[in-house]
Amino acid sequence: MWTDRTPSDRAEYAESIAQEAAEALLKRIDAPRIDAAFVMGSGWKEAADGVGEPYLRFPVTEIPGFLAPTAAGHAGEIRAIRRGERCAVIFAGRTHLYEGHGPLAAVHGVRTAIAAGANTIVLTNACGSLTADLPVGAPALISDHINFTAQTPLIGARFVDLTDVYSPRLRAALRAFDATIGEGVYGGWFGPAFETPAEIRMMKTLGVDLVGMSTVLEAIAAREGGAEVLGLSLVTNRAAGLAGTKLSGEEVLEVANAAIPRLRPLLTEVARLVLA
Ligand code: HPA
Repeated sequence: MWTDRTPSDRAEYAESIAQEAAEALLKRIDAPRIDAAFVMGSGWKEAADGVGEPYLRFPVTEIPGFLAPTAAGHAGEIRAIRRGERCAVIFAGRTHLYEGHGPLAAVHGVRTAIAAGANTIVLTNACGSLTADLPVGAPALISDHINFTAQTPLIGARFVDLTDVYSPRLRAALRAFDATIGEGVYGGWFGPAFETPAEIRMMKTLGVDLVGMSTVLEAIAAREGGAEVLGLSLVTNRAAGLAGTKLSGEEVLEVANAAIPRLRPLLTEVARLVLA
């Protein structure tokens, strides 16, 4: 449903289906608007109760345009949270570029959330680390990104400023909450194959600290929509060729599970900040 159209038809389709999805979402969660959305990547989903106890949860496929996820560790569920007068949704699972539905499908959740009123988008992921300063098992703030996917969710002359994609304000607030939290530049890789050691050396030369297969397109779409973006990574492994061991999706999930107790309080603080 996402790729069989001309470019301008695709852009129009993306806009109208995000609008339709936002209306369906607000009706489903019985809220006039949402204030924030959390996109939970590998590992983070299990820590999502740190954001708050959901008053409602349902499959993403109940909302127009959302696809049933295929990646392990992605539940494909929407959870609704209330905090005082504020409301947020958690997307537990996301559509990745490597699933083959194109960049517009990968950002549909973000566009839906913004169409439903969200002015903050929290993007979380699991990633590999290119530096010993960002150790395995630890969360890190994304300070900036390099988009290696050669894809964009923007079609046409939409010139979006990406100077401060990842909110300096929210990053500073989280550093004040946890002085030990690291920070780095995230390289967005198409996947689903992990990088080769040579690709990791290239990225290292270019200034990448963290590498993963999501987030960059969602961040671009969120900035286009005027939302403030917070990017949180969980380091699940040293990047290819740096640890002398092979990479596996299972290892990513194992480390992610072990990190849950560390991620939960971080998410509680994020919720306090963005749903104040
Ligand atoms: N590379 C890309 N994506 C990832 C990695 C990695 O090393 N770890 C978890 N997701």
